[in-house]
Amino acid sequence: MGVVPGFVTLCLFAVSATAFLFRVAVAANEGTTRHYQFDIKLQNVTRLCHMKSMVTVNGKFPGPTVVAREGDRLLVKVTNHVQNNMSIHWHGIRQLRSGWADGPAYITQCPIQTGQSYLYNFTVIGQRGTLWWHAHISWLRSTVYGPLIILPKSNDSYPFAKPHKEVPIIFGEWFNSDPEAVISQALQTGGGPNVSDAYTINGLPGPLYNCSARDTFKLRVKPGKTYMLRLINAALNDELFFSIANHTVTVVDVDAVYVKPFDTETIIIAPGQTSNVLLKTKPSSPHATFMMLARPYVTGQGTFDNSTVAGILEYEPPLKMKKLPLLKPVLPALNDTAFVANFTSRLRSLGSAKFPANVPRKVDKKFFFTVGLGTNPCNHGNNGTTCQGPNGTMFAASINNISFTMPTTALLQAHYTGQSNGVADPNFPSYPKPTFNFTGTPPNNTMVMNGTKVVVLEYNTSVELVLQDTSILGAESHPLHLHGINFYVVGQGFGNFDPSNDPGRYNLVDPVERNTVGVPSGGWVAIRFRADNPGVWFMHCHLEVHTSWGLKMAWVVLDGHLPDQKLLPPPADLPKC
Ligand code: C2O
Repeated sequence: MGVVPGFVTLCLFAVSATAFLFRVAVAANEGTTRHYQFDIKLQNVTRLCHMKSMVTVNGKFPGPTVVAREGDRLLVKVTNHVQNNMSIHWHGIRQLRSGWADGPAYITQCPIQTGQSYLYNFTVIGQRGTLWWHAHISWLRSTVYGPLIILPKSNDSYPFAKPHKEVPIIFGEWFNSDPEAVISQALQTGGGPNVSDAYTINGLPGPLYNCSARDTFKLRVKPGKTYMLRLINAALNDELFFSIANHTVTVVDVDAVYVKPFDTETIIIAPGQTSNVLLKTKPSSPHATFMMLARPYVTGQGTFDNSTVAGILEYEPPLKMKKLPLLKPVLPALNDTAFVANFTSRLRSLGSAKFPANVPRKVDKKFFFTVGLGTNPCNHGNNGTTCQGPNGTMFAASINNISFTMPTTALLQAHYTGQSNGVADPNFPSYPKPTFNFTGTPPNNTMVMNGTKVVVLEYNTSVELVLQDTSILGAESHPLHLHGINFYVVGQGFGNFDPSNDPGRYNLVDPVERNTVGVPSGGWVAIRFRADNPGVWFMHCHLEVHTSWGLKMAWVVLDGHLPDQKLLPPPADLPKC
């Protein structure tokens, strides 16, 4: 790392010194424009001795790293050369007024069809850290993903000592079969989809799988240095524990927002989440190499991939010894919810003068959303086959018992052109009707309702949203992701949210700010945000199987009165449905 590809060195031989200074200052403030070309194409990739043709960006797996500085404009031209429809999401980017570039298919744009291109055009405002990009249509993100690194402005620094090196570590999930076939089969039968065959670190499953030893991520480090690991969980369906043998790391940011630093031996990271951690190497080369392991945190009742991905941490220069012992970290149990609750409670906004926690103190609108599984009637009863979901039904998932039906045209365009009638109902319920004992004995009727319902918010509304897990078909942790707006995690707990006692315990001082939060298994989380970004913002579980089953909805944030509070007009090349 260190070298930023495409970074434009300011090298201005100005005539006068004042003009020179002025121009540098303007450039530092406004940022530069960085161009990327993403060619969506098929590529043969082999892991675990299985070769398959997969959809990639530029033939790379994982995809290319996009680098920018805070304040820069990114122009990414995506050209689709494959048969699948495509769409790319810049996960965690605020997209202030530029919702057209957000990327979720049928929410902010129609898909980019075969042979077509779309230029994603957005500016990175007020954010620095690690984010990522991924396909946002069907399950294509299983192979179409990569890091999106935002460096501080060139005249700015980290709120900690500059690391010796920075290393992206992106977790993924490998399927021997085609993930598109896996999800389309599951949606037809109504049953749970097949699970992945391996987890990966930077695309590599590592030595604990058959026929995989060659495909191992190795991190070579020097003693006595600090490395910043840019962790990204791009796995489809699994939260992950991650640990490096005999090393602790210091967490310094999550979701591209600085936090109060804290040390830990193990990280929990949900799909969609990112985190920068500092790894301080031993003062002198130890007589050992160290495994870094990741394996899932699982709370649901379905089958899951219980395997472990391993990478190697190796000190240089290599010691002249025959064989160094290889040390393994001990990870929490697969269902260690207590570890997860403790870890997440340690996450606090840095809350400095420069990076304050602007949590809304006063709330204009309160929402209470249940999230969880449910069922739909079997849709092919007439040809005699039974469905493979619970009791012959089809699996579904919902928010306030509404399972979201994808529209066939993009919601943002319908909204912008005033043609939302018949596309989306603006009556998404603010609380579940009827209410029930959410985490107690589940109701007998597990059927969901289906619809394309949204919440409409006036510009700048401050919102409190309690997300409550349900025990319907089993309690389960759900990493909820909100597009376009960061939120503050003001409270969390187990069991049912208690509206009379829990709000008194909210942290309104230094709550962590992020874009993806785990709703605790059998518990709740309370978030607050300000709807200061006009557009249509998707919110969904980042476990892809739950999104496929309908655990998703959208917020429509109306324009404000001032000119800079309005959604920009759509680009001319916006794909059509
Ligand atoms: Cu990273 Cu809507 O997703």
